[in-house]
Amino acid sequence: MANQEDLLKQIISHAKEYGFVFPSSEIYDGLSAVYDYGPLGAELKNHLKSYWWKSMVQMHENVVGLDTAIFMHPTTWKASGHTDAFNDPLIDNKDSKKRYRADVLIEEWVNKIQAKIDKEVAKAENRFGESFDKEQFLATNPRVLANKEKIDEAENRFKNAMDNEDLADVRQLIIDLDIADPVSGSKNWTDVRQFNLMFSTEIGATAEGATTVYLRPETAQGIFVNFLNVQKTTRMKIPFGIAQIGKAFRNEIIARQFIFRMREFEQMEMQFFVRPGEEMKWYEFWKTERLKWHERIGIAKENYRFHDHLKLAHYANAAADIEFNFPFGFKELEGIHSRTDFDLKQHEEHSGKKLQYFDPEINKNYVPFVVETSIGLDRLFLAVLSSSFKNEELEDGSSRVVLKLPAFLAPYKAAVLPLTKKDGLPEKARQIMTSLKAKFNIQYDEKDSIGKRYRRQDAIGTPFSITVDHDSLNDNTVTIRDRDSLEQTRVKIADLVTIIQEKTEAPL
Ligand code: GAP
Repeated sequence: MANQEDLLKQIISHAKEYGFVFPSSEIYDGLSAVYDYGPLGAELKNHLKSYWWKSMVQMHENVVGLDTAIFMHPTTWKASGHTDAFNDPLIDNKDSKKRYRADVLIEEWVNKIQAKIDKEVAKAENRFGESFDKEQFLATNPRVLANKEKIDEAENRFKNAMDNEDLADVRQLIIDLDIADPVSGSKNWTDVRQFNLMFSTEIGATAEGATTVYLRPETAQGIFVNFLNVQKTTRMKIPFGIAQIGKAFRNEIIARQFIFRMREFEQMEMQFFVRPGEEMKWYEFWKTERLKWHERIGIAKENYRFHDHLKLAHYANAAADIEFNFPFGFKELEGIHSRTDFDLKQHEEHSGKKLQYFDPEINKNYVPFVVETSIGLDRLFLAVLSSSFKNEELEDGSSRVVLKLPAFLAPYKAAVLPLTKKDGLPEKARQIMTSLKAKFNIQYDEKDSIGKRYRRQDAIGTPFSITVDHDSLNDNTVTIRDRDSLEQTRVKIADLVTIIQEKTEAPL
């Protein structure tokens, strides 16, 4: 774990050094859990957005886009349940004065026990080799079974306590599980309290006439309240989806783990409206579809796994996370939720307006059911950044830090590098730059030795470096260096656009 912590620290400092992510308002010592994206970060983030938007909206004829306001009528949040139920159970340690989410403390305890099970399995796998039957081992090994039972008991007790709003029992569970403050080791805990995560502010000129409004904690509600506007204006037929990318805000209790848990973040959400009774079919469809989407990005498949929810949110009848193997372990990257007709019905009730669809195929009016896919853009950014970050030893004994970003996501698609600053090479390189820059984001660099320039491009993830040398002046060819294989290939300048295009196309 120490190594992994170290890795996260290296990634954070690399992200800052090369202009991917800066702490917000850093000159004032930053603002906790708020970050700014630098020039390269903004590029990477835009590529991720565009990849998601194209896959969702452009590639699905029955999904349309939307862009709604951050502020919404305050009744929206009463209807959605956020005013009353968007809470985290928090607990303080009396000695360290540190604040924790009670559910996270319990989840971390479960992860520790699960790690013991995984260790037993790995040991047995080693011992029995080829003949090892994992299923049977998990079902019969007494130590594994005892640990599984411990996990089930703790999770069930936590779920029941939360369902019954029995916060005293959540505290007792933390004590019974012998959970200590991860910082100080102290077990001196306060009571557990509920804490609403929405930020509020006021709209209106005078204090008397002001109305309390909230910064939206999810983008989904902007989609729900516009369901009929969109359906009528686009003449979409059920099943159809509405996709949106936008900022969301949550006053998170735990502000750790870089851009994993932020107070201001961006979501990419899609609400898919279906006939009642067909939601489970679509829930499975979108689970599969979303995992495939992640796998197409090009990050190794073993970094993803599903986690089915035990404790369902107030609006869901089924929910799963796609978890990613971040430097601090497997954690939620995306949620897929079967939200029933909860939201639309609630908005009907609170607004007094009908939010129904007339289905011509069955000649019936109904409130559609909804399957949602919801991914945090910043978490996706961290997943891509952390899995691309490599410290590599090279064959010649030197080492390099390289971001092996999937080429279609790289901030710069290529760098144009004249071998020297004289003999007309910069002019030739500038000509090449001009012929490429309308199509791709390209960097020009003539400072320092060619080796140093290659390292700089490696560090920011540029997949191709185009080197202009003396032969280029005579035969109109250049070398292309591949960031990952380090291979250099001689190609015609006239072919550059096609080559770069092919190698940096998004996998839609
Ligand atoms: N509309 C459903 C919804 O908001 P969620 O599971 O609370 O569901 C969806 O959030 C996704 O938003 C998460 O999977 C995560 O990627 C991202 N997310 C949630 N809270 C976040 C935070 N504080 N910082 C960064 N990303 C966050």
